[in-house]
Amino acid sequence: MSHFKTAEEAAAAGKYVRTVRSFVKREGRLTKGQAAAIERLWPSVGLTLENGRLDLGAVFGRQAPVTLEIGFGMGHSLVEMAANAPERDFIGIEVHEPGIGACLMAAEEAEVENFRVFHEDAVEVLKQCIPDKSLNCVQIFFPDPWHKKRHHKRRIVQPEFVQLLIQKIETDGVIHLATDWENYAEHMLEVLNDEPRLTNLSSSGDYVPRPDNRPKTKFERRGEGKGHGVWDLQFKIN
Ligand SMILES: C[S@@+](CC[C@H](N)C(=O)[O-])C[C@H]1O[C@@H](n2cnc3c(N)ncnc32)[C@H](O)[C@@H]1O
Repeated sequence: MSHFKTAEEAAAAGKYVRTVRSFVKREGRLTKGQAAAIERLWPSVGLTLENGRLDLGAVFGRQAPVTLEIGFGMGHSLVEMAANAPERDFIGIEVHEPGIGACLMAAEEAEVENFRVFHEDAVEVLKQCIPDKSLNCVQIFFPDPWHKKRHHKRRIVQPEFVQLLIQKIETDGVIHLATDWENYAEHMLEVLNDEPRLTNLSSSGDYVPRPDNRPKTKFERRGEGKGHGVWDLQFKIN
């Protein structure tokens, strides 16, 4: 048993502290195409925590509204949305390396350039690299549902995380979440509703119809094939 009362106390004393994470590092193997795409594109589109607090105007070479996508998987939605909205800039964050590779391959094929990617934990990127009130939209599509009750604490959408998002989004900016897990949708709604700095954009006070600009990912199609419903939530920062 540890004699430290809090994780902070233990960390201050130099102890290694295990924090709750929303992901498990999977050892995925890169395909040759993914590895080659990373080698070619990473120098121009890759960002790391070592970049520190970003000057987004300098990163993209212009001032444009920025969308941040957390946990983009294979990058299908990120690349399609960036291709469909050349007037906006996009930042994607994903911890799974084959996803980074697949995203860069797709971006190269679509000749999309208004995006950057981090291969890091989104919580650390938000804390260390994203300036306050700099984002126009944060989107998280089909985050890991962690469906067993004892794993619910691993769900990325939690009050503390939402506070961090609000801090990084400009006034009138939007948080857009989607899930095919009803119990997680209810949890998301509860967490976002509890935040006085947010206004629900749903006219029925709960979910919004699937927005046209959200591309269908492979993950979503698979869910649909199994008969899952899909819930979209959009909240505006006051
Ligand atoms: C269930 S998948 C959905 C992927 C994609 N959005 C889609 O709809 O196909 C969730 C993704 O979130 C990523 N992820 C989970 N926690 C993360 C975190 N803290 N930072 C970055 N990525 C994360 C996982 O690696 C995984 O690829």
